Formats: sequence, structure tokens, C-alpha cells
Amino acid sequence: MTKTNSIGFYFILVLGLIPIKMQLSDGSELIIKIPRANLAHVPKDLPLTTTTLDLSQNNISELQTSDVLSLSKLRVLMMSHNRIQCLDIGVFKFNTELEYLDLSHNELRVISCSPTVNFKHLDLSFNAFDALPICKEFGNMSHLKFLGLSGSKVQSSSVQSIAHLNISKVLLVLGDTYGEVEDPESLQHIRTGNLHIVFPEKREFRFLLDVSVSTAISLELSNIKCGLEDKECSYFLSALFKLRKNLRLSNLTLNNVETTWNSFIKVLQLVWHTPVKYFSISNMKLQDKVDQRSFNYSGTSLKALSIYQVVSNVFSFPQHYIYGIFSNMNIQSVTLSGTHMLHMVCPSQASPFLHLDFSDNLLTDMVFKDCRNLIELKTLSLQKNQLKKLENIILMSAEMTSLQKLDISQNSLSYSDKESLCSWTESLLVLNLSSNMLTGSVFRCLPPKVKVLDLHNNRIMSIPNDVTHLQALQELNVASNSLVDLPGCGAFSSLSVLVIEHNSVSLPSADFFQSCQKIRSIAAGNNPFQCTCELREFVKRIGQVSEVVEGWPDSYSCDFPESAQGTLLQDFHMSPLSCDTGLLIVTIGAILLVLAAFVAFLCYCLDLPWYLRMVCQWTQTRRRARNIPVEELQRDLQFHAFVSYSEHDSAWVKSELLPNLEKDGIRVCLHERNFIPGKSIVENIIHFIEKSYKSIFVLSPHFIQSEWCHYELYFAHHNLFHEGSDNLILILLEPIPQDNIPSNYYKLKTLMSRRTYLEWPIEKSKHGLFWANLRATINVKLDKQTETTCHIQR
Ligand SMILES: *[C@@H]1O[C@H](CO)[C@@H](O)[C@H](O)[C@H]1NC(C)=O
Ligand SMILES: *[C@@H]1O[C@H](CO)[C@@H](O)[C@H](O)[C@H]1NC(C)=O
Ligand SMILES: *[C@@H]1O[C@H](CO)[C@@H](O)[C@H](O)[C@H]1NC(C)=O
Ligand SMILES: *[C@@H]1O[C@H](CO)[C@@H](O)[C@H](O)[C@H]1NC(C)=O
Ligand SMILES: *[C@@H]1O[C@H](CO)[C@@H](O)[C@H](O)[C@H]1NC(C)=O
Ligand SMILES: *[C@@H]1O[C@H](CO)[C@@H](O)[C@H](O)[C@H]1NC(C)=O
Repeated sequence: MTKTNSIGFYFILVLGLIPIKMQLSDGSELIIKIPRANLAHVPKDLPLTTTTLDLSQNNISELQTSDVLSLSKLRVLMMSHNRIQCLDIGVFKFNTELEYLDLSHNELRVISCSPTVNFKHLDLSFNAFDALPICKEFGNMSHLKFLGLSGSKVQSSSVQSIAHLNISKVLLVLGDTYGEVEDPESLQHIRTGNLHIVFPEKREFRFLLDVSVSTAISLELSNIKCGLEDKECSYFLSALFKLRKNLRLSNLTLNNVETTWNSFIKVLQLVWHTPVKYFSISNMKLQDKVDQRSFNYSGTSLKALSIYQVVSNVFSFPQHYIYGIFSNMNIQSVTLSGTHMLHMVCPSQASPFLHLDFSDNLLTDMVFKDCRNLIELKTLSLQKNQLKKLENIILMSAEMTSLQKLDISQNSLSYSDKESLCSWTESLLVLNLSSNMLTGSVFRCLPPKVKVLDLHNNRIMSIPNDVTHLQALQELNVASNSLVDLPGCGAFSSLSVLVIEHNSVSLPSADFFQSCQKIRSIAAGNNPFQCTCELREFVKRIGQVSEVVEGWPDSYSCDFPESAQGTLLQDFHMSPLSCDTGLLIVTIGAILLVLAAFVAFLCYCLDLPWYLRMVCQWTQTRRRARNIPVEELQRDLQFHAFVSYSEHDSAWVKSELLPNLEKDGIRVCLHERNFIPGKSIVENIIHFIEKSYKSIFVLSPHFIQSEWCHYELYFAHHNLFHEGSDNLILILLEPIPQDNIPSNYYKLKTLMSRRTYLEWPIEKSKHGLFWANLRATINVKLDKQTETTCHIQR
């Protein structure tokens, strides 16, 4: 990492705004690309570890030792399309690793030699050399695989020094002035399997160079212009004629041919009788008229003829004659592509053709109509033509009883299944119907044994139910159509590859995987998936078999709802609850039931209401105590609490109440203990109620029976009203049935109904909270000195 960073930083400094592409793979390769940057020199201070340097298409005119001296790791140097004029091979004396040098398309005239690098690839083609730039030292390049040369003079003496090398491929570019001094046999010294000779452009072929002496198995000749000035095209034809003797030659390729129709037919006829097996012509311009001469098909070695890209400036010529020449060829394979051919006739007798490629022409449905002589034909391509009706092609195929592979893609084919016979040849295994205008109806008539079916880029919206059963179908491509669901495998029981990308599949059914057990590759990306509950099952299934899902997870994303748009299906989750209404209702019901049971348990077993009331009172009291100014409360008070109780409850008061309150320093006034002798009981009651901060009433059935208690309550309540302070505390020691309260105790009745009271809990565990509550209610700080004691028994 540090390495990459430092280099990147370094480069920005050194080269400023020049576009650089760097690639550092596993530390051993450092590739620097600075093409088309109008550099005038090799940049200084390149990283010392550079292994590949691409400076092609710049404006560099010199290459010096200092430019590459420090690049000791350099293996590949590409400097084509610059302006270098002279080269001293010695500049690379320190680049011991260099094995690939491309200096093609420069302006090299001179090369100076010195003991040289052991190149594997050396390209000096398309330069301005006069003699071929071959140094004696090249003889030591024992690993040379490719040698590109250019020159205007080709002499045996210059190629002698590499005659012992076995070079895979040699490119020989003849300069514009080539032809003046010639050594026709010189090519015999270049030992190579693959020779490509580029003749000077724009010059009539009048060369004496003998290509037939070459050792090449594959010979390629570029820029052949003949038959235009020299009507007979004699130089080129005689060169081809000599090839008959070269039994090694297997492949012959002609590029950029400009000639007449007659010369072209002659070229064909000559090559027909050479040892060439594969003959190919590309980029041919034809002119002039055609003389109809018969073609001698006998005794050929040719297996395949391929002609690519032909333009003709003749508009009326005997088409039937020309088409006839091709259709009656007794060879295995013919390719005529990009030739503007309008028609092709049926061979006049049973043809040995195995492969025909007529792609990129102007053929119509009439091609090979009712043609019964193509019974050997295995593959036929009519790709990119003007075919319109699939019915006609089906009829055509019916006669081709060996046809295994048919490519009729990129036409304007449509199919109407009404009243047409479905007569596909049974032999067909691979059918390419892509890029046409076919709809789902095409599924009603397909070759019964087809294994590979390409229907991508058509107008299929659905696959009908009554489809042809294709038991053998293994690969189905319906990409770029308008299908809304995955097809099941009911009719395609062997399906193993399905491509259904770029359709309108929004909610694919998950049972696809059940129905298609043999699937080993499915590509369903780039569909507008609707990420709702219904999709979950599919996502789950597809996740389980993700190893057979092409493009997973990146090509699979939600299109709907908008909130989820762009989310990968892989990251799309919906809880089972939100998707299943039944489950949702059951779950909510269950939760409510549990809650109810829990509340009931708390109420009946733990007496929750009691606790709640207590806690509530306690908090209210705390709040009140905070709100009332303490000084006001303390004025004139001697006791925290006056306790009123029935004699019957005195045992509880003395054993429970008193100890629990007094242990916290709460001063309690009991009538038994504190009443002042000599004063009337009523006076005492009033006095002590008024001297007490709170009045505690211990309520029980006995309390109601006691008249005094009633008084005490009355006074205390009275006091409450007059002082406006909330000083009554009711303790319900034992439950008092409302009916039992005598009618004259209305005060008590209203108090008990209006005010909350503390209930004495029977359970010992609750006593703690009870006392805490009570203490909190009366908790106020009193002045110690104001304490008074009273010991009068009522
Ligand atoms: C290339 O460099 C030469 C000088 O060496 C200059 O005259 C010419 O304009 C340059 N070409 C371009 C395209 O910049
Ligand atoms: C080729 O290499 C050999 C030894 O490696 C050397 O003796 C000979 O001089 C070299 N030949 C040339 C022409 O450089
Ligand atoms: C040249 O090398 C190729 C393999 O690279 C080999 O097949 C061929 O026989 C060799 N030819 C000669 C003449 O050594
Ligand atoms: C000759 O051409 C055929 C068909 O194009 C090709 O398969 C074969 O490799 C070629 N042979 C050579 C030696 O280039
Ligand atoms: C056709 O070519 C073959 C082989 O070159 C030759 O033997 C034969 O005589 C030719 N036939 C005609 C009618 O020219
Ligand atoms: C069908 O033809 C198209 C070109 O038209 C090509 O891209 C595709 O790969 C072919 N399909 C098959 C199965 O060969």
C-alpha cells in the first residue's frame, strides 16, 4: 500500500496534468500508461520499478540511454506512433529485462546496432527504412516470436543473418518506393510460420516478390490493387499461380483488395487449385463487368472460403451467375458476410456444405426456398438480414435434414401461428431467434429437440400455456423481453440455464425452483422487483441457491415500493409478523391474554391495588410537604400526630403504631398519655388536635361505636377546614362495611368516600411500606423545646 501511495503522490508532482494510468498488481508489475499526451520526451524520473511503459501516440523524436537507463525492471516498452528518427539499439544495454519493444509507426530511417537485448517481440514496422533494419546481432535473439520490419528494399543479404531463427510471426511492410531493386527469392530466408506482407498502398500490384518461396503455413497479403490499369492483373495472378508448388501453405488471407469482378473470379479459380485450405478475403472493392465463364470446381484442397465486407460499384451484373458460383462450391464452409448480397440460389445438386454463414447481408425470406440440396448442412447463419416471416424460415428448415444450428438473429421476424404448419427440421439443436419482433406465440412452434434457444430482445410478454413441449431444452435466453414472471419448467423438463434479465418480472413465483429441479444457472437480474411480502419466499429460495444465480446479489434490487428502490434483494427483509395477518392477530391476542393474566395475578395474589394506593399517597404527601413552607407548619405545633382510636384497638396502637412512629423521633399524642388533667375532655381534644401537625384516626368497626372518637374526628376535620391544611390521616385497621356506619356519622362517611385512607395490611411483608407511607405523611420537623407532655387518662 505504501508503495502505491508514494508512487501516486510522486507522479502528480512530476508530471503535473498529464493523464497517467497506473496499475500495480501484486507488487511485481508496475504499468505506466501515458498515451496521447503530446509528450516531446520520455518523462524523467519515472518510477524505477516500472515494468511496462506505454508512451504510444506522443510527439517523442528521440530515445536516449538516459531516458531508460534507470528503468532496470522494464520489460515492455510501447512507443508506436511517435516521431523517432533514429534508433541505437545500444540505449537498452542496461535494460536487461526488456523483451517487448514496439517502435512501429515512427519515422525511423537508421538503426545502429550493438550487442543487443534478447527480444521476444520487436516491432520496427511502418517506418521509413530503406533497407530492412536487420542487424547481425539480431541473429542472437533466440527467443524472438514476433518481428516487424519495414523497408523499401528486400534483399537476401539483409535477411541472411536471421535465417536460422524460427520466428512465429513476421510482419513485413514494404515502403512506398519498394519495387525498384528487387531480390524476388529473398523471402525464403525468413523462417516463420506466419508471414504478413503489407504492400504499398495505392499502387498497382506490379511486384516480382515471390511469396511462394516462403516457409509460412499462413500467409497474409495486404493492399492488393490489380486489374485496374493492368487489365489482366497478371503480376498478382502469377504470384498466386506459383503458390501451387508450396505444399506447406494452408491459410491464405487477402486484406484491402481493389480489383475487377473478372480478376476476382480468376483469383478464386487460382486459389482453388493451390494447397490452400482456408482462404479469406476482407475489405474488397469490386468494379467492372463480369464475363460469364464456367468455374472449374474439381481437384481443390479448399475447405473454407470466407469473404468479409465487399462493396461493388456495379449495379447490373449477372447475379445468378455469381450466386451460382458460390452455391455450387464443393467445399465444407462458405462465409459471405457484409457483402450486400440480395439472394442466394439453391445448389444445383446435393451440396457438401456443412457450414454457411451469410450474416450481415440483404437476404429475404426467399433464400433457399424449397431447396432440397442442402441435406448435409449443419450450421446456417442468416444473422442480420432482411428476413420477415418466421413461417417461411420454418418451411426452409424443413428441407435441411441435418441442420443442427440456425442463427436468424437480428432480422425483423414475426410469427403468426394461424394456419401454418409447424414443420421445423427435427435435427435442430441450437436456434438463435434473438433481436427480432417475436411474441409469445413463437412458443407454439419450436423445433422439438432444440437444446439451446436464444430469444433475447424480442417482444414476448408471456409464455402461453399450450407451448410446444421441449423435453431437450437446456438453455433458454429470454432476456430483454417483457415477461412478468419466470416460466415454469413444466414444458421444459431439462432446463438448466435460464436467462431472463431485463424483463418486467416484479413478483417471481418461488415455486420456480421446485418446478425446475435441473437448473444450474439462472440470470434474472435487472428486473423491477416489487419488494413486498409476496417476494419474501422467492428471495429466501434464491438466497439458498445463490451459487447458481448469475449476478447475485448486485443485479437484483427492489424497484417498488419507492422507499426501498435500489435496495438489493439480499438486504430486503420483512418480518414474518407484518406479512401474515393470521399470525399477527394470534400474536396480539396472546400478548393481551398474558398481560391480563399477569395483572390479575398481581391484583389477587400480591394486592397490587393496595400497593398502588400506598405509593400514590406517599408521593402526593411528599409533594405537598415540599409545597407548604415549613415554618408555617411548625408554628405552635407540639406533636407530629394526634392519634384517635377506640379502646378496643389500643393494643394495636401501643404495640404497633407507637413503637414504629416513635423510633423515628415522631412525637405522638395519645389521649391516655398526654391529656391535661383538669381540662374537660372536649377541651383536651381540641387543644391537642390543634397542637398536632396531623390527626391520625384508627378506623375500625369499634371506632364507629365510640362516641368520643366521633368527636375527635369532627374537631380534627373542623380544624382542617379552618386552617386549610390537610391534617387528617385515616388508617383503616379493619374493613368497615359502609352500611354499618350510623347515619349520624355522615362526616366519617363523606371523609371515607372523599379522602384516601391507609389500609392496615394483614400480610406482614407489607408492613414496611405501610409504616414508610405513614411516616412520610407526618414527616415534619418540630421545635424540640415546645414539647409538652400530658398524662391524663380520658
Ligand atoms: C511536435 O514537436 C515538434 C517539435 O519537436 C513541434 O514542432 C510540433 O508542433 C509538435 N507537434 C504537436 C502536435 O504538438
Ligand atoms: C552472439 O552471441 C555470441 C555469444 O553469446 C557472441 O559470441 C556473438 O559475437 C554474438 N553475435 C553477434 C553478432 O552479436
Ligand atoms: C518452429 O517452431 C515451431 C513451434 O514454435 C515448431 O512447430 C516448428 O517446427 C519450428 N520450425 C522449425 C523449422 O524449426
Ligand atoms: C487457418 O485458418 C483456420 C480457420 O480460420 C484457423 O482455424 C487456423 O488456426 C489457421 N491456421 C493458421 C496456421 O493460422
Ligand atoms: C479443372 O481443373 C483440374 C485440376 O486443375 C484439371 O485437371 C482439369 O483439367 C480442369 N478442367 C477443366 C475443364 O478445365
Ligand atoms: C445469438 O446471436 C447473438 C447476435 O445476434 C449473439 O450475441 C448470441 O450470443 C447468440 N446466441 C447464441 C446462443 O449463440
